[in-house]
Amino acid sequence: MNIEEIAKKMCAKGKGILAADESTGTIAKRFKSINVENLEKNRLNFRQTLFNSSGMKDYIGGVILFDETIKQKSTLGPTIPELISKHGAIPGIKVDKGAKPLAGSKEETITEGLDGLRERLKEYYDLGARFTKWRAVYKISDKYPSVQSIKSNAHALARYAALVQEIQMVPIIEPEVLMDGTHDIQKCYQVTTNVLNECYNELEIHKINLKGTVLKPNMIIPGSECKNKSSPEEIANKTLDCLKKNVPNKVPGIAFLSGGQSEIEASKNLNEINKINDTSFLITFSYGRGLQASALKEFGKDQQNTDNIQKAFNHRAKMNGLSSKGKWSENLEKESAA
Ligand code: 13P
Repeated sequence: MNIEEIAKKMCAKGKGILAADESTGTIAKRFKSINVENLEKNRLNFRQTLFNSSGMKDYIGGVILFDETIKQKSTLGPTIPELISKHGAIPGIKVDKGAKPLAGSKEETITEGLDGLRERLKEYYDLGARFTKWRAVYKISDKYPSVQSIKSNAHALARYAALVQEIQMVPIIEPEVLMDGTHDIQKCYQVTTNVLNECYNELEIHKINLKGTVLKPNMIIPGSECKNKSSPEEIANKTLDCLKKNVPNKVPGIAFLSGGQSEIEASKNLNEINKINDTSFLITFSYGRGLQASALKEFGKDQQNTDNIQKAFNHRAKMNGLSSKGKWSENLEKESAA
């Protein structure tokens, strides 16, 4: 498959991406919330249980892994990338080295990881990865994001994307405008507009083949502490409008992050967006928490109860698969959960 075909397959209608690429530090937080010790064997057990679920085949087009996981052999026999491929999904890998304080604007971050990236990509390709992820992070406040953060993160994203396409993998471009804060939905719309514009500016300068990319953006939503809540319809209208105005048509797929929305909110909002999607974009999910929160809870109750963990995961995967077609409903949510 060439990169244009891979990008389409990752976001195929009815399917989305499982973001299981939590760093060891982030998974530590998730495990702490369910009282599970952050050991390599526990991380492997949780992840291989998800990757071996029946819901993978119908609803998951790609799985984003962390460095440790892509190198692991499952206790079921195959390596982790082989297990994922066996279930019909494409293995991918997070290649950034995290968001670090930005010199000159230290309350903001710059995502690092370009040094030595060409060599690491070769290693990941040989392990079976066919797409990658790089996450830039922007926070909203009175003075942020600064022009410095918008420009430097877009530049890094474009340099990353060029290296990834050089080795014939698909770069996921993830500029995440955080939902932390009191800002309203309009502010999120404005900031996301500026961020996306600068990203596509830099991607063009770096001669990226947009048909071989996937965008992973935030939805346009009010800050988590904003007093004015927005309906799913308003979120969908503003999100689609922002994407139409700022994302070039050549981009085949847009897969949202869940970003701290609850599982149900993430499904509901994605569904509303797809109900009114009149673009050529395949619009779907690339959720971490939005796909794994219930399964993680079950894992916390009993790590060996594979059935319950997989049941919770299959349900969320199915619900989000429906949302990616605009076919989700409260009723199906309840029926399928029961
Ligand atoms: P969430 O869906 O939990 O925001 O995670 C997605 C992700 O991959 C963030 O980089």
